[in-house]
Amino acid sequence: MLDEIKKIEQSAKEALKNTQNLDDFERVRIEFLGRKGALSLLLRALKDLPEHERRTMGGLANRLRHDLEELFFEKEKILKHSIIEDSLKKEWIDITRPGIRRARGHQHPLSIIRGEIEDIFQQLGFSTIEGPEVEEEFYNFDALNVPKNHPARDLQDTFWIKSPSSKRILLRTHTSPVQIRYMRTHNPPFRIIAPGRVFRHEATDASHEFQFYQIEGLMVGRRGEAGGEISVANFKGIMAEFFRRFFKSHDLKVQLRPAYFPFVEPGFEMYISCRACNGKGCSICKRSGWIEILGAGMVHQNVFKASGYNPTEVRGFAFGMAIDRLAMMKYKIPDIRLFHSGDMRFLKQF
Ligand code: FA5
Repeated sequence: MLDEIKKIEQSAKEALKNTQNLDDFERVRIEFLGRKGALSLLLRALKDLPEHERRTMGGLANRLRHDLEELFFEKEKILKHSIIEDSLKKEWIDITRPGIRRARGHQHPLSIIRGEIEDIFQQLGFSTIEGPEVEEEFYNFDALNVPKNHPARDLQDTFWIKSPSSKRILLRTHTSPVQIRYMRTHNPPFRIIAPGRVFRHEATDASHEFQFYQIEGLMVGRRGEAGGEISVANFKGIMAEFFRRFFKSHDLKVQLRPAYFPFVEPGFEMYISCRACNGKGCSICKRSGWIEILGAGMVHQNVFKASGYNPTEVRGFAFGMAIDRLAMMKYKIPDIRLFHSGDMRFLKQF
């Protein structure tokens, strides 16, 4: 038995000395100190010894167990420590080295401009709302006083969508249908803008796309209430302020010229002094000094009726302008088709 104890002691120490990692360590620990390990077997064998021998051997075996447990404990500490040391060495980071600059995306120029427009109108008391791009004929034309079979319907070439329902469906040709949707669910006074994508079935050129972005504006008051008698003067004042802020130009001038849109009466187009030549006349403004920027007018009585209002009680103006054209003027972009060209050389400039 004594020999056995010495053998276990020797081979356990030897095995522990050669242990290089935690896996080895665990294997050796089980081999000697595990439930079925060498030491346990030895202790179990004690019961077969005569009384006096059992005491001596029992004392020695227990001392050995105590010694081995301590040795294993120390060895485990050393192994764990060296693992941490190793990984610290391997994973050391030189924080003084220059970093790798990752390419970051950014907003599309049209989104930047749309955000700027929304911010300015918000400062002027307008809330932003949205409407669907796939629209019913009723909202896009009928409710906007565009009579069926009237040549005015041909003003905008339309992408029609096949629909299983009796309603005729289209891709909206302007943001004006949002006016109707809003008025049918809200009462004046209010001032809103409705930015969004519109679609027209037409040939493209440097200033025309078959899809572009508009911003609709609508301000309606209740007649007889303070500030409810909305007039063309209100419209002109608000828009002049908007363009001065948008183009960051205090000497920007605006001008109204009569125009026809079925959903307004009177209707007009707004011109601003040309940003390229400051109104002096250049090739961009065709030597006139003025650039057409939007369509607008006082909301037509039939539009109020189609929205469920009593037209004698309310008054308001509406306008619609193309975000793409504003972006082109601000950034001096010569061709509207660049926006959706996917050309990174163009997009990276913003
Ligand atoms: C309209 O769409 C009217 N709904 C605007 C309006 C609203 C008038 C409220 C009165 C009251 P128009 O078709 O003119 O109007 O389009 C408005 C603006 O969109 C134009 O001034 C022009 O700047 C721009 N635009 C028109 N067609 C295109 C196109 N194909 N590509 C880019 N911009 C366009």
